[in-house]
Amino acid sequence: MYPYLFPPRGPAAVRFRTCPAFGLAVRLAVAMAASCTVTASALAAPLAGNPQAGQAVFKLCASCHQVGPRARAGFGPQLTGIIGRKAGSTSDYHYSDAMQKSGIVWSEAQLAAFIRAPDHVVPGTRMRFWGISDEQKIADLLAYLKASAQ
Ligand code: HEC
Repeated sequence: MYPYLFPPRGPAAVRFRTCPAFGLAVRLAVAMAASCTVTASALAAPLAGNPQAGQAVFKLCASCHQVGPRARAGFGPQLTGIIGRKAGSTSDYHYSDAMQKSGIVWSEAQLAAFIRAPDHVVPGTRMRFWGISDEQKIADLLAYLKASAQ
């Protein structure tokens, strides 16, 4: 019915397979796939974060979170020293059961995932935040949180 959806049949298929350009096309496709893999792994490498840029990104969190030496719980828990901290462990904030029982110790990778999609990392969390998808912004934010660890 839709001939263009199917590989050529009959004499056309024979011509296709015996065509010397076919082998070249396969080799090209393999080479392209290989170069795509390299690009993908380059993207997966951690980006260098800039703490100053991260301070600006933190404005997205600041309506609910404080960070730094005098940080206290607000609508959300304070985030001082969050990297390496056990989830749900500050004493002046009442967490959801989901957060308290998550068993997470916040690594950079886990924080990044949580910032991308809080509900995927801690299903049922009370943190209502639609997430940041820009990897550079996440790296900057993590650098800022690291720099404000005390
Ligand atoms: C609308 C308010 C709101 C915003 C905006 C928000 N959060 Fe939250 N966040 C919360 C609440 C509420 C919790 C507690 C969740 C729970 O107990 O389930 C929380 C919890 C967290 C936790 C876990 C803390 C702990 O002690 O285990 C981290 C980490 C966190 N938020 C990071 C961020 C970052 C980074 C941003 C900005 C990109 C952000 N949040 C934006 C409300 C918010």
